[in-house]
Parts: sequence; structure tokens; C-alpha cells
Amino acid sequence: MPTAVDVAHLPGEGGPVAAVRNTLGWMRHGIDHLAAQHRRFGPVYRSVFAGYTVVCVADPDMVMSIARDEQTWSTSLAWLTFFQGIDPKINAAKVDSPLFLDFKSHRDARKVFQPAFGHSATASYFNAATSIFEQAIEKWAERGHVSFKEEIRSLMMKVSTRIFLGVDDEAEKFERALIDYWEGPLSLTRSALLSPAWRRSIRGHRVLCEMLRSRIAARRASGGDDLFSRLCAKSQEPETLVDDDGLVRLMIGIKSAAFATTSSGLTGMAYLLATHPEWQERMREEALALSKGRINYEESNKLEVTSRVWKETMRLYPVAPYTARRALHDTQLGQWRIPAGTFVMGMISVAMQDEKLWSNPRSFDPDRFTEERAEDKKHKAAFLPFGIGGHTCTGMHLANAEVKAFWHAMLTRCRFTLERDYKARHTYMPAGIVSGDVKLRIERL
Ligand code: HEM
Repeated sequence: MPTAVDVAHLPGEGGPVAAVRNTLGWMRHGIDHLAAQHRRFGPVYRSVFAGYTVVCVADPDMVMSIARDEQTWSTSLAWLTFFQGIDPKINAAKVDSPLFLDFKSHRDARKVFQPAFGHSATASYFNAATSIFEQAIEKWAERGHVSFKEEIRSLMMKVSTRIFLGVDDEAEKFERALIDYWEGPLSLTRSALLSPAWRRSIRGHRVLCEMLRSRIAARRASGGDDLFSRLCAKSQEPETLVDDDGLVRLMIGIKSAAFATTSSGLTGMAYLLATHPEWQERMREEALALSKGRINYEESNKLEVTSRVWKETMRLYPVAPYTARRALHDTQLGQWRIPAGTFVMGMISVAMQDEKLWSNPRSFDPDRFTEERAEDKKHKAAFLPFGIGGHTCTGMHLANAEVKAFWHAMLTRCRFTLERDYKARHTYMPAGIVSGDVKLRIERL
């Protein structure tokens, strides 16, 4: 556990009162809380979050150097801190969740799953996602309203169950098991005896293992164009051999990393488009000009306005606020001594609203991403919503493609406003997401 490391010499705060204040502040005020801490304590400070003592690093150059220097900073040890104990065999197989691996085993795992995120695979996922989006949006338009935050999460779970596993009927079971698995690390005690959340997490992980394992033989026999079938095939090639245990764990890692990420981003974007109708109109014009009917993955790359609004959404409402690492040996960050074992969070979210890097960083201004202004290029670490370095998000192109497929289908069919006007905050639970329910009133075009 990171709490064993003494970081009391660093600015910041610790102790139970700070722990409660920080956890609530982070969850209820997201990036605003993190930016306030940064202003108060400086670029490197200690903090307590959900029982974990962490060192937050908000300086863009340091964030960059941490992500790039794999000899000093371990991703595996950081993520194992959260999930160790839920699964007794964690990190024992040759291949595991990519975030539980470092060095060669991590590079080997990426060789197994990266082809399943290549161009032609993404194009086929794009088509599968589009048809699911179209059906859901038709229903929303008929009904005239949608509780967006809640329904997009279930819809994205349905999409991911289809494109990751090639099934249509078990999205709810997967969603339940994943939520249970994810909530374990946030429980107050990590004991199966004392904590119902910890017990649910262990059970959720077991359910996920069983659901995946039971499908391997059929996938190996008949194949398919879903992600799991692609991994099952790849795992049999001599260069990238993986046993069943490794395959299941890799798949759980990918599904976990994808969980509630794109849906949280889409929720923020729905809120921004509902409260900035002029941008909704610009995106609709672009979508209709491209095609009134269904588009393919290649065509979606022409949706430039959509792309700018999506980037601005991730900047204002970052989905992944930090990258987690632990120091493998004693090291230095600027003037600060960092002991071996320190749990460090590289605050990519804070850099995305840094006043030195962005003009009016709190305002919604998608055109800051045009080629002429290119504010995201002012610093290498100014805009890293998908991370940087060896563990950069593998699902980045898929997430971007899903977002374009969704908004093209939505905006060519309907126009929408908030049912109840409100000023949203960024919150964190456990992905970054806009506050409130984002209930939309929908009108067919
Ligand atoms: C808006 C959507 C998403 C955001 C903002 C996001 C963000 C991130 C970030 C910041 C990391 C780096 C973590 C680190 O360095 O510590 C990451 C890793 C990862 N993401 Fe995503 N992600 C998104 C969607 C997805 C999706 C849809 C998938 C899968 C289909 C996915 C799969 C992964 C995987 C497998 C990793 C670990 C890569 C590795 O360790 O080698 N992500 N993501």
C-alpha cells in the first residue's frame, strides 16, 4: 500500500480529516478541486484520496517525464495497489490486464491486443456501433425525451458487449459484474469479512472470468469479428501465444479500461451541446452535409467540427483525470525528493486547464483546436486526455470513432435541449463526468 511510504516532507496534507475532505472534494468538484489544490500547494503535493496517500504532480513537464520514464515509474505497481486482493491470481499469469504489467510482459501483451484495435477492426466496430445507436436514437425521438447520463451508459455497455464479445443479450450481466469489480478499490476496508463492496468486487471479478472463459472454445472454433474472437485467434499464433487464464485477464483489463469512459465523455458533450445550441447547429450542418444517411468509418474522419467539440469536451470534463504510477527507486521531481514506492498521480486534467497554456481555459471554445490556433500544441503535455508513453490508451481511435458515429446518427435525426436548465460541475465517480442527470427534450428534425 502506498501509505507505507513517508512523504511528510512534501507540501500538502494528510490525516483522516483531509482524507474525507479531499475524497468528497474530488468526487463532487472534480477538476475544480484538483486545480484549487494545485494553486494552494504547488506543482508537487501530497494528498489522501479514498484511503490512499498519493503525491499529485500537476506540472506539465513533470507529467510528461513520469509517463515517459518507465525505468523509474511503474504502472503495474500503481494499479495493483487498487486491485490487489480482489483476485488471488492477479499478476501470476504471463499475460494480464495491460495496466497491471510493465516492461517486456507489457510490450508482449500489447502485441496480442493491438491488432484488434487496428484500422479495419475499428471500421467494423464502427458499423456495429452505428446500427445500435440508430435503433436507440429512434426510440428516444419517438419518446421525446431521454435521461441521457443513465441511458448512454447502458447503451455504451450494449455497444461494447456487441463489439468486444459479439453478443447482444448479456450486456446487463456484464455491466453489473464490471460495476461491482470497479467499486471494490473504493471501499473503506479491503476485507471480505467487513466490506460488502469488497465481497461484491471479488464476486464481480469471478463472474467476468466465468463469462469469458466459457466462450473461449467456441470463439477459437468459429471465430468472429468481435474483439474477443480476434484476441482468441491471435493468442494461438506462435509469436503471441497466450493461455486461457491470460486471455481472460487481458480481456477483463481491456473491458475495465473501457468501462464508463466513452459514455462519460458523451454525457459531457450532450450537456455542452444542449447548452450551446449554436455548436449543436454547426455540428448538425456538418453531419447533414456529409450524408443524411449512414456513414462509414472513413467518412467519419471528415467530421472536423465534431472532432473539435469532442476535444473541448474532454478538456473541460476530463474522463481520466490522472495517470497512476509508483516510484521504483528513490528519485527527484524538480526540487522534491520522491522516495521509492511513492504513489504518484500525473494530473493530465490540470494541465488541460492550465492558464499558461490555454486562453480563457474555463470557457467552452472548440475553435481553440483549429489548425490556426492549435492551443493543444503549445506544450507536449497540454492536451493528453488519452495519456502518453507506453501505456497510452489503446482504445483512443475506437472511442473517437464511437463518438462520431453516435453524434452523426443523433444530429441527423433530432434536435435537443435540456429538460431542466442547470449549471453543471465536473465530478469524479470513478471516471470524470459532468454533474446532474442531463435529461434531454428531443425533437425530431
Ligand atoms: C473517452 C474515452 C477514453 C479515455 C479518455 C481514455 C483514457 C485513457 C488513459 C488516460 C489511459 C492511460 C493510463 C495510464 O497511462 O496510466 C488509458 C489506457 C487504456 N485504455 Fe483508455 N480511455 C478511453 C477509452 C478507452 C476504450 C474505449 C478502450 C477499449 C476499448 C480503452 C482501453 C484502454 C487500455 C487497454 C488502456 C491500457 C493501455 C496499456 O496499459 O497499455 N480506453 N485510457
